[in-house]
Amino acid sequence: MESTEQYGCLLDLVKRRRSVRQFKPDPVPEEYITKIMELARWAPSGFHTQPWEFVVIRDPEVKAGIVAALDERAPAITDPAKKAAARNSFRDAPVFILALCDWRAKVGLPRQPRTMEDTAPLYQSSMANVFLYMQLAATTLGLASQWYTATSSPGAEKAIKEIVGIPEPLTIYDMMVVGYEAVAPGPKIVREVADMVHYDACGVEDFRTDDEVEEYAKLTYAWCLREH
Ligand SMILES: Cc1cc2nc3c(=O)[nH]c(=O)nc-3n(C[C@H](O)[C@H](O)[C@H](O)COP(=O)(O)O)c2cc1C
Repeated sequence: MESTEQYGCLLDLVKRRRSVRQFKPDPVPEEYITKIMELARWAPSGFHTQPWEFVVIRDPEVKAGIVAALDERAPAITDPAKKAAARNSFRDAPVFILALCDWRAKVGLPRQPRTMEDTAPLYQSSMANVFLYMQLAATTLGLASQWYTATSSPGAEKAIKEIVGIPEPLTIYDMMVVGYEAVAPGPKIVREVADMVHYDACGVEDFRTDDEVEEYAKLTYAWCLREH
């Protein structure tokens, strides 16, 4: 395949990967989950430590436990104007994938000994990579997915670890909700390349002013609330 064609395919895939927040309850074929995990294992990680583990949750009782823990300890941020039925139907999705970080893998990093704190940025980036690979894999299979962060908020994480049986020192990075799209996301607003790319040298005048940053943040915040 020509490189321009490859680029076109990748750009198309990247644009099609969107956050879906309302799912049909239809089951996902087992082999699709296997394919998502196969792609995930090729993700880059700091010093190739591959600190990830995954728990695929399909059992309705375990899913219900996770949903209850989230509702109680880390309720989702949504547009209050939306009807309850139109919000948070991530709970209808047939599969949740918990992405875990195994901190013991830090022994494979250079410059030992390593603390959890100085490893954290490296592992956050590694886990984000694997997560994105999973989302992209799901997209290629015609599946919808949602990146769910509240699973790592302190109260919810503790409860979910108990429900699922996740031992120390593993932590929950985030949860990927997987299924078939019930409601399509709205058009995405994204910053322009010329607005954010700088070449060779730059100064304060090349970047947005405080007011511009704030104005754009208001726009994206309102957009996100509508999407939620
Ligand atoms: C680190 C990270 C955390 C996120 N957490 C959540 C979340 O908890 N719930 C959610 O619905 N979306 C979450 N998202 C998805 C973003 O809101 C979403 O990617 C962004 O609004 C752009 O929309 P898109 O994914 O449709 O392109 C998260 C994304 C990232 C990268």
